[in-house]
Amino acid sequence: MTAFQYIQHPSPTSEDQIAQILKDPGFGTNFTDHTAVIDWTLDGGWANPRVEAYGPIPLDPAASVLHYGQEIFEGLKAYKHSDGGIYTFRPQANAARLNKSAHRMALPALDENLFLESLEQLVAVDKSWVPTGEGEALYLRPFMFATEAFLGVRPAQEVSYRVIASPAGNYFGGELKPVRIWVSRDYARAAPGGTGDAKTGGNYAASLLPQQQAAENGCQQVLFLDPLHDNAIEELGGMNVFLVTNDGRLLTPELTGTILEGVTRSSVIQLAKDRGLTVEERRITLDEWDAGVTEGTITEVFACGTAAVITPIGELVDGDKVIASTGTGEVTQAIREELLGIQTGTVEDRHNWLHRL
Ligand code: COI
Repeated sequence: MTAFQYIQHPSPTSEDQIAQILKDPGFGTNFTDHTAVIDWTLDGGWANPRVEAYGPIPLDPAASVLHYGQEIFEGLKAYKHSDGGIYTFRPQANAARLNKSAHRMALPALDENLFLESLEQLVAVDKSWVPTGEGEALYLRPFMFATEAFLGVRPAQEVSYRVIASPAGNYFGGELKPVRIWVSRDYARAAPGGTGDAKTGGNYAASLLPQQQAAENGCQQVLFLDPLHDNAIEELGGMNVFLVTNDGRLLTPELTGTILEGVTRSSVIQLAKDRGLTVEERRITLDEWDAGVTEGTITEVFACGTAAVITPIGELVDGDKVIASTGTGEVTQAIREELLGIQTGTVEDRHNWLHRL
């Protein structure tokens, strides 16, 4: 594999325009000037790594991603520290998960070093796009998809891997405040043996209709239940979920193959253990959640993910019933501050999670 080639954008965004965008980055609407790209063919393997101008992708209308959805992605963030360096958080975990997803979706594995280099090369040319406001970062979105023009149903023999970058603020917009969650009773997200633990577009596409129902009912996210054991909670549309008890336990659904193993999820588990909480990864039912809040044994509930970081859950709406109401609790706040502190370089990185780009 040759080194990355750099093809500069012919008319990059001016520093003034970038400053304007970074004043209020929002989430997922602005993109940096460049993209990292690596092509793959069955015969030649990975080739032609490059950083080129961000722009539309030439794609044959018969490209199998457009018909059969053979696609995977990742999400991670880059933070500018006071030493001037730009760091990302546990990218090796994203590389491993990308390859796990690739395996499930019959896409080729990408070497971890090539994954890391694609992030390094892109951030090196677009480093002026990293926002530095509270809770802000440059969101990196690596993705891989089937480009081969072929309508037969089999794994594509031509694939593209790309990374795009987008300055990001709070995923839910505005100030951090507890979100309302809608329980999806009509639709499931995943079933055993399916693609629930792969980060593939289809899982997110399947969450859009229930997500629409959630929005119609004044909720920002949807909670999916285990389709086989009706009342057990699984995950949100794009985030994992945690409950805090009044006797020092942190509960989260166990990974059964239908839940995405979040990098933030595993980091929260580690930080919770570090501060002496007992972490229970197990089956949790809505009834347990409901009863726990009513009796005061469950004191806080929060969602977590790369995009959302840690977001307190206020109310859980199950049809006509509002199951629970909690505010931003102490444990949620403390773990969120510690995690963000490590990511932004103000708290010691004792687990060696940071990677300088
Ligand atoms: C992330 O948290 O990075 C995701 O991929 C989830 C999506 C809801 C933005």
